Amino acid sequence: MTKRRFPRPAELAPLLKFKTPTLNFKKRRLESALTLWDLRTIAKRRTPKAPFDYCDGSAEAEISLARARQAFEDVEFQPSILRDVSQVSTSWDVLGSPVAFPVGIAPTGFTRMMQSDGEDAGASMAAKWGVPFTLSTMGTRSIEHVQQVAPEGRNWFQLYMWKDRERSMELVERAAQAGVDTLMVTVDVPVAGARLRDKRNGFSIPPALTMGTVLNALPRPWWWFDFLTTDPLEFASLSSWQGTVGELLDHMFDPTVTYEDLAWIKKQWKGKLVVKGVQGLEDSKKLATMGVDGIVLSNHGGRQLDRAPIPFHLLPSVVKEVGKDVEVHVDTGIMSGADIVAAIAMGARFTMVGRAYLYGLMAGGTQGVDRMFHILTEQMTRTMRLLGVASLEELEPGHVTQLRRLLPRV
Ligand SMILES: Cc1cc2nc3c(=O)[nH]c(=O)nc-3n(C[C@H](O)[C@H](O)[C@H](O)COP(=O)(O)O)c2cc1C
Repeated sequence: MTKRRFPRPAELAPLLKFKTPTLNFKKRRLESALTLWDLRTIAKRRTPKAPFDYCDGSAEAEISLARARQAFEDVEFQPSILRDVSQVSTSWDVLGSPVAFPVGIAPTGFTRMMQSDGEDAGASMAAKWGVPFTLSTMGTRSIEHVQQVAPEGRNWFQLYMWKDRERSMELVERAAQAGVDTLMVTVDVPVAGARLRDKRNGFSIPPALTMGTVLNALPRPWWWFDFLTTDPLEFASLSSWQGTVGELLDHMFDPTVTYEDLAWIKKQWKGKLVVKGVQGLEDSKKLATMGVDGIVLSNHGGRQLDRAPIPFHLLPSVVKEVGKDVEVHVDTGIMSGADIVAAIAMGARFTMVGRAYLYGLMAGGTQGVDRMFHILTEQMTRTMRLLGVASLEELEPGHVTQLRRLLPRV
């Protein structure tokens, strides 16, 4: 029989660990997020349906995105044991300059509609964490503004190429003058993908006050307050645009653009040139032959062609074939630091996150993006330690087994 006694207050006291509650609600909210999925949950709660869905959704039946995320989940890591992993280095060179972590912020359009800190948050936090930020042609701050906000950061510019070479050139020149050293040309948007959530939500830019949006906004008044009391949206490329935003969009997605236009841009641009939206081996080879500096294996976060190739799965063959001539980067579906470790192990030089950044932004503006980087980098270094590797150079394909779910029919 267990013998019982009266509890002694002196023994109880050290067990009582009541923390003084922090009155900073935003801090509390963000610190409660331990994963990027937690940030997504907070983002969803705080953002009206239409802008949240614009970010969260993808094209058609949203299969491309689901498969890309599944591919990362289907990774089985192969760790080594008994290695000294007290010090872990996550930095190396990307496109000739160092990055503190092999991840950057992908270009996203209409960012300040999701939360007014928008590109300022992305650029300043990327600079703080020592990683590149990419401003989209459809971004809601100008190239010059981003350079001002994060002068010490690595700010890249993403270009939608137009047949109208003068207009393309205007943007390229502005980027060069502002001090941008890397131009990322997106090539997977000959036409816009079918974002059905946006259609169903009647999503418009700027957001329209329909009965539905008003009702949906009632429990989220701070979003409207934030939207209506901050600078109106300006666009990275709109300052020299005479038409409407709709006309700009039509112009942005130019189905006549070909490899010839890319070659022309390459001639004009003196900095590093990266091509984003590459989805196959043959195109990768062609681009390597052209002499571009980097390619991003990406299906645009599943927002363009549905049932597109899974970028993560393309890595081994593309890296094997062109990895010596051109840097191979990858995005789409990255929702944890472990995903990044897996991508680097499979040969990627660099990765980018789109939604992860936007979930952080919607969850808590600039501090939310900071929290996103905090979670992502902590996951990355912990995964490396548990794998028994102390640097990115040590990561190799042997660290990753891809469990098979979808097999092509032979
Ligand atoms: C809301 C949103 C807007 C985007 N806008 C652009 C854009 O203007 N230009 C571009 O090249 N890619 C754009 N993308 C694609 C991202 O650059 C990136 O390829 C994609 O988000 C990566 O997938 P992930 O969201 O799963 O990380 C956008 C993505 C999202 C989610």
